Amino acid sequence: NKAQAWSARFSEPVSDLVKRYTASVDFDKRMAAFDIQGSLAHADMLSAIGIISADDLAAIQKGMAQILSEIDAGQFNWSIDLEDVHLNIEKRLVELVGDAGKRLHTGRSRNDQVATDIRLWLRAEIDIAIDLLRQLRHNLAALAKTHAHTILPGFTHLQVAQPVTFGHHLLAYAEMFARDAERLHDCRKRVNRLPLGAAALAGTTYPIDRERVARTLGFDDICRNSLDAVSDRDFAIEFCAAAALIMTHISRMSEELIIWMSPRVGFIELADRFCTGSSIMPQKKNPDVPELARGKTGRVNGNLIGLLTLMKGQPLAYNKDNQEDKEGLFDSADTIRDTLTIFVDMVSGIKVKPDAMRAAALQGYATATDLADYLVKKGVPFRDAHETVAHAVRTCEEQNCDLADLSLEQLRAFNASINEDVFDVLTLEGSVAARNHVGGTAPQRVLEEAERVLKDTAAA
Ligand code: ARG
Repeated sequence: NKAQAWSARFSEPVSDLVKRYTASVDFDKRMAAFDIQGSLAHADMLSAIGIISADDLAAIQKGMAQILSEIDAGQFNWSIDLEDVHLNIEKRLVELVGDAGKRLHTGRSRNDQVATDIRLWLRAEIDIAIDLLRQLRHNLAALAKTHAHTILPGFTHLQVAQPVTFGHHLLAYAEMFARDAERLHDCRKRVNRLPLGAAALAGTTYPIDRERVARTLGFDDICRNSLDAVSDRDFAIEFCAAAALIMTHISRMSEELIIWMSPRVGFIELADRFCTGSSIMPQKKNPDVPELARGKTGRVNGNLIGLLTLMKGQPLAYNKDNQEDKEGLFDSADTIRDTLTIFVDMVSGIKVKPDAMRAAALQGYATATDLADYLVKKGVPFRDAHETVAHAVRTCEEQNCDLADLSLEQLRAFNASINEDVFDVLTLEGSVAARNHVGGTAPQRVLEEAERVLKDTAAA
């Protein structure tokens, strides 16, 4: 069984099933470019400290360049006999450049190698996700600016509560996605540390220069304990947690898009390219994309729990359990990347129907709080004002009309301090305009906030 790099010690080959069971190449080969990048940095350092010759380094660089182009061209022959991405690439390097290739693994183990690969790969994914969040916030703010004056009902308990501007509602999501980006920035700091040099678990007897490797690979720092460096995956768990929150926000937004698009509500339409029809019901236009995004949140949550569970019982240092860290992590990164990419486009394709929003805001006594506040400003204690308005709402229900439809005499019957100016606060426009403070729904504030977010998210 000469295929395996470690086979000399073994007297019988593993079965095909065990081979498949223990191999990871089918999924870890996607880290190939980062594996090569890490190997080149390691080889550069080995040559700088005189462990390998300049000729060996040149041979390794040449061989790796060829391997990279073979992979890019789809011509690399991945073999499950070679277990994982690391051994596949190393074997090919030895085929291409001989002894120089055999010297590459000096002072290194697959344990610190794989930890390095994952960090390099994840760092790139984080940068992509942060940029997608920026674009999404930008498009949300652009739509918010257009709809700073568009009024729809704000809900609590999914019951009409108070009028809000649509721009304000959209900017709520921009806030969530801003925090998501912050979280990724923070996570990136701990991802961006170099495990290489930890070797299998205890470090290495060679006089390695870890700072040099860290600099070459763009790491901000090095992992300071070899046992920890090869074994913990908390940086990946942090990313999965951040991804789960991103999807949670996406899922809430999806739920609203679906409700808004229901013909019963009719606040928006999504561009046709994000919807599908029904094979039986000709009238249907279903919001499949937000529904799937809501659904995919489940697997991203699952990936987080999977990784946490993977780590919790592992003694120091590396255990093969850790090979199970990848598929969930990859899936979370792929899912947020695809989802955010689609949402960036979908948000700018939202067709808003202001008339339907306005009609809905006019039902459900959305300005009842404004009437109570009006009475308070006339000297009525808030609790009394609250009760007075509740009576007025009951009258409206009996007469099947809105508060603004009551005559001045009718209103004065509830409280004599009510005057003609009450109608300013009973209108939807008066209601939103009055909430004119930082964080409030007034159109003026929404315009300012939208401008702020647009500036903050302008392409670099
Ligand atoms: N494929 C392995 C992983 O993903 C690489 C490290 C294997 N190391 C070992 N000693 N078996 O973790």
